[in-house]
Order: sequence, then structure tokens, then C-alpha cells
Amino acid sequence: MEIKRICVLGAGLMGNGIAQVCAQAGYMVTLRDIEQKFIDGGMNTIKKNLSRDAEKGKITKEQMDAILGRIKPTLDIKEAASDADIVVEVVIEVMDVKKKVYQELETVVPKHCLFFTNTSGLSITEMASITKRPERFIGTHFFNPVPVMRLLEIIRGQQTSDETAEIAKAWGKKIGKEVVMVKEAPAFVVNRILCSMINEAFFVLDEGLATAEDIDKAMMLGCNHPIGPLALADLIGLDTQLRISEGMYRELGDKYRPSLLVRKLVRAGNLGRKTGRGVYDYSKK
Ligand SMILES: NC(=O)c1ccc[n+]([C@@H]2O[C@H](COP(=O)([O-])OP(=O)(O)OC[C@H]3O[C@@H](n4cnc5c(N)ncnc54)[C@H](O)[C@@H]3O)[C@@H](O)[C@H]2O)c1
Repeated sequence: MEIKRICVLGAGLMGNGIAQVCAQAGYMVTLRDIEQKFIDGGMNTIKKNLSRDAEKGKITKEQMDAILGRIKPTLDIKEAASDADIVVEVVIEVMDVKKKVYQELETVVPKHCLFFTNTSGLSITEMASITKRPERFIGTHFFNPVPVMRLLEIIRGQQTSDETAEIAKAWGKKIGKEVVMVKEAPAFVVNRILCSMINEAFFVLDEGLATAEDIDKAMMLGCNHPIGPLALADLIGLDTQLRISEGMYRELGDKYRPSLLVRKLVRAGNLGRKTGRGVYDYSKK
């Protein structure tokens, strides 16, 4: 099956990056969101990224224009998906919202279309089960920022076919990513390990073993991590961190119980960099 047209649903933090790397690889891309302001935000980020690459001499101005010319932003689901070979779903991490999106998609996409989801850890099988194409449904988990991070974690659902897995792998390589294949489980591989480590850092902080600054310093200098776990949690968003931990706790048991400190910070609205305050205070920076 030849893949030519990619529809990206959701122009947010991850969606615009996925649209960009697909267009850079030569695919025709439609980028759909539900409000014009999200489309504009996504397209502006892509333009900014490409302009930076052009200034650094990584691409020419002509290449930049050609890449932008391959991305068609739209609010219309029919225009976005009616001739798509692959739909990459990059909407918010809420199962009910994702399910509604797939129900709507089923009414517009061609029969051969494959569904790829960028979920951070929700069940691929559960999403696939409400579609008419569970064998053509797979998880393709990108990392932030998409144009920079090299990994693509590919997760097969219970009914994903070998052919779909092969297409996803080839597509991942074509858009410049290194691929790892993963069996379905809450939070997959990277987030299961990463979010467990971050959660442990919150327990350590809550127990008063060291200050936040010293916990981050210890992990950076002692383990050669580029950023400490608490500063990383502020970057990811404490609400997202908590949601992933809760999912693992629910399905995998007590070992993954979220730290009470994360819950308290989230309840207080201290979600990290995006709210100006998380573990650290960013309001004066
Ligand atoms: N943020 C990260 O670091 C990260 C990393 C890997 C995976 N993810 C996953 O990627 C997905 C998106 O996350 P994000 O950080 O880009 O979120 P985001 O909030 O930045 O973007 C989500 C976008 O989806 C749009 N949207 C909602 N309903 C829609 C619909 N029906 N059709 C089209 N667009 C719709 C929203 O308007 C929003 O612009 C989530 O599943 C998340 O777990 C996020």
C-alpha cells in the first residue's frame, strides 16, 4: 500500500510537530483542529521552526516554502480526512474525546485508511475496539519536541495486523525516526520508566530527604541526566504526570501509586511551567 496523504488531527504541541516532519518527508498533509486559533498557533510554530532551520542553513528558502506548501490547515473534518491514507490522531489525552473523534472519522475516511494514535499511555485496544478497523489501528508515540526527538515508540493493540505494524515502522523511518516496537501496557515503555522515576523524586522530596534543587542536581551530576526529574515534571506538566501515574496505578497496582505531593500541587493549580509555578516558581523569570 502506497502512503501519500496524511491527516493530522490536533494542531497542538505534538500535532504541529508531527505535521511538520510528515511534510518534510514529502507527504501531503492536512492539519485539522476544532478552532481557528489552534490552527493558527500550530502553523505559526511550524513556520518558526522552519525559518530557524533556514537561517541556520539546514534547509533552503525554496525547501521551506515547498514544505509549507504541502501542509493544508483546515477546520473541516471531511476536507481533512476524506482521502487520507493515514490519520494521526493527536487530540487531548482523554479517552472519551478520542473515542468521539474515531466515531466521527469512521463516517468520512476511505476504507483503506489506517488510524495512528499519539496517546501517551491510553489503551490502543480500547480505542480500536470502537472503530470498524481494529486491525488497521496502532499507537505511534512521539516525543516532545517532535522535529528534534529521535524516538518513535510503536505500540500494537490486541488486533493490530502485521501489515499495519510494518507500514507504521516504514513510515516512522521515512519521517526520520528511530523506531522501537512495544507491546501494549499502561504508559508503554518510556513513560512507564520515566514517570515512575519522576514519581519517586516526588516521594523523596515529600519525605524531606533533600531539597528540590539538590534532588535535581544529584540526578544530573550523579546519573548524567540532562535535566533533573522535578524540573522535567514541571516541563511535562504535573497534571499530565499525575494522569499517567494514575493510569499505571489503576492497572498495574500499588507500586505505581502517585505521590500525595503531586496530587496536592495539581489541586493547587501548580501545574508546572505552563501555569508559572510547579515544583519551582517561574513567575519572576
Ligand atoms: N505533550 C507531550 O509532551 C506529549 C508527548 C507524547 C504524546 N502526547 C500525547 O499527544 C496528544 C496531544 O497532546 P498535546 O500535548 O499535543 O496536547 P495539546 O492540548 O497541545 O493539543 C491537542 C489539540 O487537539 C485539539 N483537539 C481537540 N479535539 C479535537 C478534534 N476533535 N479534532 C481535532 N483536534 C482536536 C485541541 O484543540 C488541541 O489543539 C495526547 O494524547 C498526549 O497524551 C503528548
